[in-house]
Amino acid sequence: MSRLEAAQERRAEAGVPGSGPPQASDVLLEVRNLRTYFHVMDGTVRAVDGVDFKINRGGTLGLVGESGCGKSVTAHAIMRLIETPPGEIAEGEIWFDGRDLLTLSDEEMREIRGGDIAMIFQEPMTSLNPVFTVGDQISEAVRLHQKVSAREARDRAIESLRLVGLSAPERRVRQYPHELSGGMRQRVLIAMALSCSPKLLIADEPTTALDVTIQAQILELINDVQAQTGTALLLITHDLAVVAETVQTLAVMYAGRIVETGSVEEVLLNPRMPYTQGLLNSIPGEKKRGKALSAIEGVVPSPFRMPPGCKFQPRCPHQWERCTMEPDLLEVGRSERRARCWLQAPGEIERRRTYDLAAAATVRDVIG
Ligand SMILES: Nc1ncnc2c1ncn2[C@@H]1O[C@H](COP(=O)(O)OP(=O)(O)OP(=O)(O)O)[C@@H](O)[C@H]1O
Ligand SMILES: [Mg+2]
Repeated sequence: MSRLEAAQERRAEAGVPGSGPPQASDVLLEVRNLRTYFHVMDGTVRAVDGVDFKINRGGTLGLVGESGCGKSVTAHAIMRLIETPPGEIAEGEIWFDGRDLLTLSDEEMREIRGGDIAMIFQEPMTSLNPVFTVGDQISEAVRLHQKVSAREARDRAIESLRLVGLSAPERRVRQYPHELSGGMRQRVLIAMALSCSPKLLIADEPTTALDVTIQAQILELINDVQAQTGTALLLITHDLAVVAETVQTLAVMYAGRIVETGSVEEVLLNPRMPYTQGLLNSIPGEKKRGKALSAIEGVVPSPFRMPPGCKFQPRCPHQWERCTMEPDLLEVGRSERRARCWLQAPGEIERRRTYDLAAAATVRDVIG
């Protein structure tokens, strides 16, 4: 029995409260306590280590964080595309439209992938097959999930190419990927993703490989089709400017955990977690013209040498003795606004000040 099956059995036996499908019917996706590990030569990489989030029907969530924090692994786990071994979904529940994806058979999952959940991958250039025309590839995606004739599938391909703003779609369907520019290929991938009218679109760094003007066009396109089709969106990026314009809610990841959540405005205008504050300080902006940007000190910890307690502690300008214990994702103010930082716990800021005063007194004592 795998670790995941054992965890599922334990949950069922204990009748854990709060388990089972989400109560609210407007929740489309709810990820609970997701843990995904990779067992490699040097040890175990806990790439995703206890992640929870929700996306409502038609809602949009941005998942942001530095390279290697576990964003893509989270997306691949939702799609059940973690290669086992070396990977393993060790624990968690992924409720999608009333079903826990982690309990489905491979066959059931194949139906969902590319049907109800579509994904645009991080490497757009390798996601299209060079030897088939664009039209054939979209038609095949349609026929894999829907019982339609070849003719209807081709019409659907043309329609979805039109939806993503490609000119002369009747001609485009006969073209091969190498005949298109990078921006056009990305539009084709979005068209393919949308061709089956998914309930959820996962876009993993959809614009990273494109130049800045094309990036803006693709984001606008994702925004437009999301609003038109009512598809929910999970947008993964390391670029805060991208999420600011595209999603309503934000989850910031660090070292396999979510460290801050809230509406885009709240998180970007009033970040509560020092990591998010550091990320925001490190991006250029009008107000910072002429001033040096402050990069976050230090580097992401090695997956094999995670610090005890708060994983951001070694790089945090506010770290103190409390941080050797890991804080929960604490509620700050209204619900769904959370930050994983002791300074957000009641009374901790006061205690932190007292600690500073005591530390200063100690330094005075030591140096006389
Ligand atoms: N197949 C694998 N084998 C071993 N380790 C892996 C594998 N896939 C991912 N990892 C590790 O899991 C961690 C999270 O990787 P992930 O790809 O999710 O990062 P990311 O947040 O998407 O980063 P980026 O912004 O660079 O895309 C990293 O430490 C990575 O090395
Ligand atoms: Mg990634």
